[in-house]
Amino acid sequence: MKVSNRSHIQPFHAMEVLREANNLELKGKNIWHLETGEPVTGAPEKVRVAAQKYLDSGRIGYTDALGIPDLRKRISLHYLEYYDLNIPEDRIIVTTGSSGGLLLSLLSAFDVGDKVVVTEPGYPAYSNMLKALGLLPIYCSTEADSRYQPTVEQLESLNAKPDGMIIASPANPTGSILKDKEIKTLVDWCNINKVRIIADEVYHRVTYGCRAETILKSTEEAIIINGFSKYYAMTGWRLGWIVIPEKFLKPIERLAQNLFISAPALSQASAIYAFDSSQELDENLKRYERNKDILEASLKRSGFGNSNTAQGAFYLYVDVSPFTHSSQDFCKRMLHEAGVAATPGIDFDRVRGQNYVRFSYAGHTNDIECAAESIEKWIKVRFK
Ligand SMILES: Cc1ncc(COP(=O)(O)O)c(C=O)c1O
Repeated sequence: MKVSNRSHIQPFHAMEVLREANNLELKGKNIWHLETGEPVTGAPEKVRVAAQKYLDSGRIGYTDALGIPDLRKRISLHYLEYYDLNIPEDRIIVTTGSSGGLLLSLLSAFDVGDKVVVTEPGYPAYSNMLKALGLLPIYCSTEADSRYQPTVEQLESLNAKPDGMIIASPANPTGSILKDKEIKTLVDWCNINKVRIIADEVYHRVTYGCRAETILKSTEEAIIINGFSKYYAMTGWRLGWIVIPEKFLKPIERLAQNLFISAPALSQASAIYAFDSSQELDENLKRYERNKDILEASLKRSGFGNSNTAQGAFYLYVDVSPFTHSSQDFCKRMLHEAGVAATPGIDFDRVRGQNYVRFSYAGHTNDIECAAESIEKWIKVRFK
């Protein structure tokens, strides 16, 4: 049977590294995992207790395709508590991870052949998902001096007129946060040029010494992607949400019914309690910040080039050009020889990414220390 052309997309290299790292572990090798963006702590205690109770109640069935009403209400209350915004629960849809939310958003906002701006460096699933759906990514190469966020000048000079744009703040892999003024400028440009915006806010609340503002403060016309994987440390629960303009409700409901039936019931019922766990979750932020300092200092000592001065998310996106111009080869050798798994920059930037590697510091501090020490030793032996 023929395999579809649409499935010929790039692999997600971070996941490929994870598979190779797991294989090495099965063979008894000690590996430090700095490749995937995953908090190691697990879901907050209140969520786990609620999940146990729900499990014991017996039946875990389908839910309403838009999500259980109590969770939609709780997310609406979160917008009031955290952002001081009134977002009616009808505009909130619970999804299977924020990845599921991204898929529903793209399907509901664009038609085959539409052109959508994505930034480089940027989260690879954006362009890969666009391609699989028959949409055309338009790459906008962002620079360190605009903190890897797109500028109006860059958008004006694109070689095609876009129908849409995906922005992310804090962004992956750079951790870059859009300032309020920058959000407004991008929103104005998109309004004038009739460009539909999808704003990925999944790293909201994973910020250091600052806050990321929601695009909802500047427009009601964008689709907002968010979820429980990052700040709430619930990756495997596969739960996210989107905030949509009212007119998208019925189209997205039809798509969600047919594509997913519903998001996982157990995760939905338990996630309500994630919003009452801020004290516990904020402790994770303190650890991420410590980890970042340890890793950054160690990589500098080893002779790595500059890294992003990340204000958010939990990644260092580091210049490896002092050692290599093939980030994939570098990551492979680092995995096999130093036992440290990291993601090659080509996941995030097709060309310039050869000179970058992304390290996730969402792990335990002890593991980050061991990984940093192992990299330092390896660099000394290999490159000096
Ligand atoms: C920027 C960004 N958006 C979305 C996702 C998807 O997250 P999930 O589907 O686990 O909610 C990720 C995961 O790493 C990400 O980095």
